[in-house]
Parts: sequence; C-alpha cells; structure tokens
Amino acid sequence: MTPVDQLPAWKALETHRDQMKNRHLRALCTDDPGRADRWRTRVGHLEVDYTKHRATEDTFHHLFALAEQTDVPAQIARLFAGARINTTEQRAVLHMALRGDAHSVFRVDGEDVMPQIMATRARMRQACETLRAGAWLGAAGEPVTDVVNIGIGGSDLGPFMACEALQPYLTDTPRVHFVSNIDGAQISRVLAPLDPRRTLFIVNSKSFGTLETKANADTAKHWLQQSGLPLDAVMSRHFLAVSANQAALSAFGIPEEHRFPIWDWVGGRYSLWSATGLAIAIAIGMDGFESMLAGARLMDEHFRHAPMIDNLPLRLGLLGVWYADFLGAASQAVLPYDDRLRSLPSYLQQADMESNGKRVTRDGQAVTWATGPIVWGAPGTNGQHAFFQLMHQGTHLIPADFIGCIRPHHPHTRHHRALIANMLAQSEALMHGRTEAETRAALAARGLDESRIDALTPHNVFPGNQPSTTILLDALTPEALGSLIALYEHRIFTQGAIWGINSFDQWGVELGKIMAQTVIGELESGQIGASHDPWSAALLTTCLAPTD
Ligand code: F6P
Repeated sequence: MTPVDQLPAWKALETHRDQMKNRHLRALCTDDPGRADRWRTRVGHLEVDYTKHRATEDTFHHLFALAEQTDVPAQIARLFAGARINTTEQRAVLHMALRGDAHSVFRVDGEDVMPQIMATRARMRQACETLRAGAWLGAAGEPVTDVVNIGIGGSDLGPFMACEALQPYLTDTPRVHFVSNIDGAQISRVLAPLDPRRTLFIVNSKSFGTLETKANADTAKHWLQQSGLPLDAVMSRHFLAVSANQAALSAFGIPEEHRFPIWDWVGGRYSLWSATGLAIAIAIGMDGFESMLAGARLMDEHFRHAPMIDNLPLRLGLLGVWYADFLGAASQAVLPYDDRLRSLPSYLQQADMESNGKRVTRDGQAVTWATGPIVWGAPGTNGQHAFFQLMHQGTHLIPADFIGCIRPHHPHTRHHRALIANMLAQSEALMHGRTEAETRAALAARGLDESRIDALTPHNVFPGNQPSTTILLDALTPEALGSLIALYEHRIFTQGAIWGINSFDQWGVELGKIMAQTVIGELESGQIGASHDPWSAALLTTCLAPTD
C-alpha cells in the first residue's frame, strides 16, 4: 500500500499549505462570507459550525481527494459491513449495531447480530424496571437503592460521563455510583455512605481480567459479607456483571441469569451502547437509554450515506488531519460550555487517544506522518480562567471544539446567557485576535499615555488565527448526547482510515500492565528482583521502606 504521505493528494496539500501559510483566519473568513452558510451542518439535534477554520474550499477539495485516495468511502462500507477491520485482533468493529433498531441488519461472518442485541436489551429493560420500581430486593429483603458500577476505561468512562451529562433525567433512586481506580481511597469514599443491604454492584469488564476491576470487585464482595450477609445471598442478590469472559464470571460466582454479554466486535471504548451502559439505563430509564441509541443511530446513518461534501464526521476528521499533518498542531482542545459535559474531555481522551495514538500502519510499517492528537480540555468558563491564556497568547496552534447547549435544563436564564456569550466570544476572540493598531487604540481609549501604551502593547496583542468548531446541541437530551458521541466516534474513524492505522486495538496499554505485575509481587514479598534499572530500583526501595 502506498504510504499516505506519498499520495498525490498529500503532495498537493503540502503545496497548498505553503500557499496558505501567511493567510490569517480572519482574512479567510472575510474573503469568503458565504462560508457561514456552506460550512454549517445540522444532524438531528446538533448544529455544527466549522467556519472558523484555517481552510478554504481548495483545502477541502484536496482533503476530499485525500479521502478518495485512501479509500475512505470503501473503508466506511467495510466498517458497517462487519469486516474484520481490527486486523491485529481479527475482529469486526460493529458498535453501530448496538444502536440498531428493528429494521437494522448487521452481520459478522454472515451471522445477523441483531437478535442477540435485542434480546440483551430486553433483559436490560427488565433489570432496570425492577430496580427503578424498588422491586429488586437485597439478601436482607430490603430494596436496592444504590447501584455501583465497577469498571475502568471503556467500562467506566462512558457510563460515568453519560450519567453526569444526563443528570436532569436521573431519578432519585436507584442512585448510581462509579468505582474505577485501584486506589483504595476511591472505593472507600464511594462505599462509606452506602448501606450494603441496599447496594447492588455491576461488575463491568469485557475481559474480566483487569487488575483494577478484579480488586474492586473482590473488595465489594468482602464489604457485603462483612455486613453479615451470607456469600450465596450476596452473589445471587447483589451482583450483576457485563463481560465476555464466562469462565471468570463463574469463578467469581455471578449467577448466569445476572450476566450480560458483550461481544468481541465491541471495543471497550465504544461499548457504552451495550450492556456496559447498564448504569445509564438504570439511572435514566431504558426509554431514555434507547433515545440515546436513536441519536447515535441518526449520526451513523448520516456518516454512512451522506456524500463526502455534506458528511459532518468526515469533514471534521479531514480538518483534524489538516491540522495534525500539515499545520503542525499536536493537540485538540475539547471545551464544553455546559458543566454536565465536564467529563466529556476524559471520555474523548480514551476514545481518540487509545484509538489513534498509533505509530505503525495496519501492515506494521512505521508511520512518517503525525497520527492522533493529544486530546485535552475542561468546561469552558473554568478553562478561561486557567489555560485560555496559552490559547490566546502562547506559541501553540490549538484547534478547539466549543460545545454548548441552546436550551438549559435549569431556570437560571441569566447564567445561561452569560455562559453562551462567553463561548461565542471566546471562539471569536481566538479567531480574530487583536492587532497592534487595535491594541494601541484600545489602550489609548483607557486614557493611558504614549509611553505606557508602548510598554503594554506587545503584551496586549492577540495574534488570533486559532481555529475552532462550534457544536450546538438544541438541549442536552439523551438523543443529542448519543449523536454527539457518535459524531466523535466517526471523526476518529475517518482520521484512522486516512492515516492507515488500526484504530481499534490498544497494544500500547500492555507493557506497563505487565511490568506492574512484577512490581506488585516485589512489594508483597519485599524482595526487589534483578529486572530493574538502578533508578527504578531506588524508587522501589523507597516505597518498600516502612512508613508511619
Ligand atoms: O487497558 C485498556 C483497556 O483494555 C481498555 O481498552 C478497556 O476499555 C479497559 O482496559 C477495561 O477493560 P475491561 O472492560 O476488559 O476491564
């Protein structure tokens, strides 16, 4: 396969980049006022504006050519057809099937996967309804009021983020809680206010081999037993599990009727649409969960069928390639202007960085181009008082996603107006900046004398030229959230497809895990093995020293 950076479209983009080098975003927009209509797309309850980008129609022309030359349309077709595109693990990638409806057909090796998805959804509904009706009784005959999801990575971040995002849809009970970290401080904090007789755990682990999850599940089991509940009753009334590892579920003692399946064609970071999202369904109800699936389905249909020119995830993915590979941007900021989306940046860190943080192509050749960006961010107005300084006047190019909701779920209209005003103002300020002449005029208007103006001007000039996308949700409903997450998933897919990498494996997380197993043994035995370098061994010695 021709390396992507040898393709004609790539070469054309390099030339185009050189021509664009000195063109300021402000001028690009002024020179093309019509882009406000053309570079804005609505899909369901999302309206996405990508006018504020260092691009022209020519840029997109070349980027579309790059998508053609890397066979992106055929790669999309193979994704939806259930081809084993996760080549290193020989797996299909079909999380879209999880949000399918009665009319959907998704096959892996010719087998229709929809019946098992629908059957699992029906079982999820039953569990949710029992729990939400207060009819799930613990071993002591008391109704369950608290559900704790134990899982990490994809078995935590999605459900956790969605439960925060959909907070206005949550009912009083059951309350949902999350434990992910191996740090005992977290499980201690979460369990402290809970009553074991009224607490149900969901052990969420596709592999059921994850150190953190196994340790937390064992601790949960002990906590329940310590309260005097007998083990068989604990296992039959206080645990549900989501996993593909039946043997480990049996060894842990989860009864078959309390197991929910997950399939090898669902990647952990794409799994909140499966029973992995049970905590979401329990928190907002199964109807709400299905609305979230419907929102994602809408984005799937759009991505699958919209022509390139109108295809939103594809366009955003192409812009990401443009910034990473031609304009040298190392990162992508995610700035939700809605506190309920505060965990979206962490969620997207796994979705994007575990998918596209790769250094070899699908056939194992080292890449000679930049791949996935560093994804980071925080709720917008908080960020404004922290890292925005660097975005406005630092030395890095940082494409940003501004995400806001037009209608809030709270009555504080004044707050909401100010929130949205800040979001709009920031994207405008980042784009326009403030020239030296404008800065001098602004300082003069404050009555400063000439020497003070001379001294302060360099510090008050804003170069601008920082690009951004603005994503507006009509409101933060389950449906809109589903579309938003699927938008990011398909953008990530598009970029991986162009870079020629496997976006669906994650070998890079393994080395540290293996080495940690050795160190755990050494900390337990007090004996440091010979495998360490002297500097790491010294740290280990310090950690072994008894502390008061
Ligand atoms: O270590 C990374 C990872 O494998 C993620 O890809 C996954 O989402 C997470 O761990 C949890 O895995 P599991 O659901 O198997 O416990």
